[in-house]
Amino acid sequence: MKQIYVDKNVRIFSGEEAKRALREKNDLSFVDEGEGVVAVPRERWEEAQYAERLHWMERGYKSIEDRNDYHESAFEDYGALQGRTFGHALEMGCGPFTNLRIIGKHCTIERCSLLDPLIGEYVSHPNCTYDRNNLYLAQRLSRKTIINMVLGRYFTPLYNSLRKRLNPTIPVAALLACPVEQMPVDQTYDLVCIINVIEHCYDTNLVFANILKVLKPGGVIVFHDRYYDHDEVLDIVQNQYDAAHPLKVDRRRIDSFLSDNFEPLFRQVTHNCSMADGIDDVIAYDELYFIGARTR
Ligand SMILES: C[S@@+](CC[C@H](N)C(=O)[O-])C[C@H]1O[C@@H](n2cnc3c(N)ncnc32)[C@H](O)[C@@H]1O
Repeated sequence: MKQIYVDKNVRIFSGEEAKRALREKNDLSFVDEGEGVVAVPRERWEEAQYAERLHWMERGYKSIEDRNDYHESAFEDYGALQGRTFGHALEMGCGPFTNLRIIGKHCTIERCSLLDPLIGEYVSHPNCTYDRNNLYLAQRLSRKTIINMVLGRYFTPLYNSLRKRLNPTIPVAALLACPVEQMPVDQTYDLVCIINVIEHCYDTNLVFANILKVLKPGGVIVFHDRYYDHDEVLDIVQNQYDAAHPLKVDRRRIDSFLSDNFEPLFRQVTHNCSMADGIDDVIAYDELYFIGARTR
């Protein structure tokens, strides 16, 4: 595997430079036999959040989504949720764009809460899809048409005010500015969505425990993350460092959490590959897409 080092300013190094940087800093000491990297110290997570903030609030200030349409396809248009009604949904690690704004097209969500440690900043992102009162569904004025893309890119304030007026909304009950590990657990939800988040957290066991504390019996989880196997984690951690992604959870840990607590309604593993900027190497990876109803 090629050596790659991505620092907290999202600068990418390869070859000798990466080797040198990896000698100084890597996540090897956090690997837990049989489980992958399931927890890291708070300072390691804070470095990841520095990179995350930089990514969305400075470098990605013009971004309009985070693969949310791709996830919709991989979840086969959330067909497993079709026809269902959820009283109160929570999206954990919602980012500036959310997946609930897409899930809400395929089922009925009466109100929602959104949680992200950076949510206080995300609400001022020019393409944020929610405010303190409403989440705006991705229905009319999606960016997929050329006219909307032009409006969205060059006339952002006009585009956003039209989008807010024309699109159906889900009322927002609360914006929670905290990590899942420290979230309030006195409120319960009918639907919990956690897509592309675990890798960014600092303690998988606390995340899983809090999901079970806040999801009602019979409630539904919509779960996606990278789906690592153990040998792959060791190989990656020895050869690569990615400041923004502190955790690499072994698929056996994810499988046991999901199979012990949920009846599957949908499950799919996708095989993908990507190429980092300026790195002449393809990185292959698996992702798990899972929807399940809580059994206990
Ligand atoms: C890659 S983004 C994905 C955002 C969103 N889920 C999406 O698919 O558009 C990961 C998000 O997880 C958030 N995050 C990082 N650590 C977290 C934690 N411990 N608890 C909850 N969210 C966290 C980050 O702030 C970031 O907004």
